[in-house]
Amino acid sequence: GWVRSVRSQKEVLFLHINDGSSLESLQVVADPSLETRDLTFGSAVEVQGKLVKSPHRMQNMELKAETIRVVGPCDVWSFPLKMKERHPLEYIRQFPHLRCRSNTLSSLLRVRSEATAAIHSFFKENGYVHIHTPIITSNDCEGAGELFKIETSNESRESREKDHFFDVPAFLTVSGQLHLEVMAGAFTHVFTFGPTFRAENSQSRRHLAEFYMVEAELSFTESLQDITQVMEDLLKTATSTVLSKCPHDVELFHKYVAPAQKVINATGKISYSEAVEVLKQAAQTFTFKPEWGCDLQTEHEKYLVKHCGEVPLFVINYPYDLKPFYMRDNEDGPQHTVAAVDLLVPGIGELCGGSLREERLHFIESRLQRYLDLRKFGSVPHGGFGMGFERYLQYLLGVDNIKDVIPFPRFSHSCLL
Ligand code: 4AD
Ligand code: MG
Repeated sequence: GWVRSVRSQKEVLFLHINDGSSLESLQVVADPSLETRDLTFGSAVEVQGKLVKSPHRMQNMELKAETIRVVGPCDVWSFPLKMKERHPLEYIRQFPHLRCRSNTLSSLLRVRSEATAAIHSFFKENGYVHIHTPIITSNDCEGAGELFKIETSNESRESREKDHFFDVPAFLTVSGQLHLEVMAGAFTHVFTFGPTFRAENSQSRRHLAEFYMVEAELSFTESLQDITQVMEDLLKTATSTVLSKCPHDVELFHKYVAPAQKVINATGKISYSEAVEVLKQAAQTFTFKPEWGCDLQTEHEKYLVKHCGEVPLFVINYPYDLKPFYMRDNEDGPQHTVAAVDLLVPGIGELCGGSLREERLHFIESRLQRYLDLRKFGSVPHGGFGMGFERYLQYLLGVDNIKDVIPFPRFSHSCLL
């Protein structure tokens, strides 16, 4: 492991060694004669000895060292992390290649790993089939113009423009939904959990160019309630699993990074139209005036979550004109809506977005050509949702900047670090 502390006393030498398996380090007790110059904070060591019951209250075991070998020395003066210091996330962000050696980032990455496993097992235990949806695709699911285009690098610009590598223009996926919908026509319950790409030119603390999205698609469902129930169950199950698998890692965040952070079990629900009324009656003045038919801005989402008691809030039934072609028409009026749902969470804003899908051929005939075949052969009522995994981690741990919850932030953002 790597040395987290060296404490040398007259009679005895204490080391703390960490191998990344947990926040806790192993205490090594050695004879002071085993200390060498290069046995410093940050160095990599191999220690042999006997594992014994520790007399100390705070730990179970300690290692009585017989040999200590420094495998990789570390120059403490130039090493940016310092012994026993709690470096803020802003500081360690400057060292993307070394920050996994800090307590904060190693805790975060363990939580990320446990949360990934928890999400997979939630779906597995509930009978969902996992589908690897393609990363390179020609479909633009959301239609929001945030695509990264795929091109070869070894051709001249002219020939590239003439004929595409794949006959048609190809892009990095913005969502696996349309591929999941294909599979939901055979398996009833499917999910995918993979990298997703959006060329969003925003410098926000909530957007990445490359992020992980959890997406589920359920067939034979006719109510939005079925979809919101899965979102809620997924969040609760994943969160309680993470809390039980790595309580100390989560606690580090709730203690030092975001002391106000709470994990809340209650949820609220409000329709878009009700939400706009609440915003209109608010004493607060907004930069964007709330108006039926306009998208909810971050300031609106924050207000709504607060208004409903700082709990995760489902906002349902959005205006028809605001949402993508695939969302199911509520056939209401005069304020025309679709069966869409966004889950807003305290401190973050939108965590999940989903809808019932328009399964009726004649309703979308006018809206989109390619979607049509799926509606001709055994079309069933269905719906689904997507959840931003990084935003989930932000919410769970109270991390303000989304760059701090990913392993490698180099191309995390359209604006580099
Ligand atoms: O709301 P979105 O755009 O929904 C879809 O893509 C649907 N096709 C999903 C589905 O129904 N299968 O994205 C889903 C979630 C958002 O709520 C947000 O949490 C996250 O993905 N997200 C991002 N996270 C980080 N960086 C970005 N640039 C993100 N864009 C969306
Ligand atoms: Mg959305």
